Amino acid sequence: MQEKIKFALAKGRLAEKSVDILEKCGIDCRCILEPSRKLVMSDVSGKYEFIFVKPSDVPIYVEHGVADIGVVGKDTLLEEDRDVYELIDLGFAKCRLCLAGYKDTDLSNYKNSLKVATKYAHIAKDYFDSKGQNVEIIPLHGSIELGPIVGLSDIILDIVESGKTLQENDLCVLEEIVNCSARLIVNKVSLKTKAEEIKPLVTKIEQIIKSQQ
Ligand code: PRP
Repeated sequence: MQEKIKFALAKGRLAEKSVDILEKCGIDCRCILEPSRKLVMSDVSGKYEFIFVKPSDVPIYVEHGVADIGVVGKDTLLEEDRDVYELIDLGFAKCRLCLAGYKDTDLSNYKNSLKVATKYAHIAKDYFDSKGQNVEIIPLHGSIELGPIVGLSDIILDIVESGKTLQENDLCVLEEIVNCSARLIVNKVSLKTKAEEIKPLVTKIEQIIKSQQ
């Protein structure tokens, strides 16, 4: 009998395309699309189970093996640094992790007093450590762009996708740190114990991604 494959999917901007790719693999995702408050959903065949969680929680569920497979942004993976296999660049949800602020911000003026608002505190620390610059990191959980606008921070470190949020708030990219996109991650034990189910699925997803390029 086939072992059940458990997926952890990220709520928000990755959700629609994550479901899309699973459907292209022939997985019936109707249970996800039906409006419901259910937290754990199963397909009709009972072969697949899905949970939708905050993006930053996806690598945690996968690392602990309560989900076998996850779909999450590279930005989140860099921030969470979890012990999972990152197997496929899914190519969607492309964005850039950037420092952003007002156009006339001169980072070299700040010496040790730069305040950085971000959802990515670890990435920010590593980045400024590598430059030998002491900064005050102000962790936020959303609407990061507010930081410089209300005077909470001098700059932000955040993802920029279309650039509209920055533009509509008179902010701009000051430095690009890294390009990101959605990734398929797999629990290290599941890849061995459920190899018969997971490996063909991974191959299929790779083929779909290739055919889309
Ligand atoms: C993300 C990010 C930016 C915005 C960038 O926020 O934190 O605010 O998207 O996208 P854009 O370049 O296309 O404008 P998200 O929408 O995930 O919500 P949040 O502010 O609650 O984190």
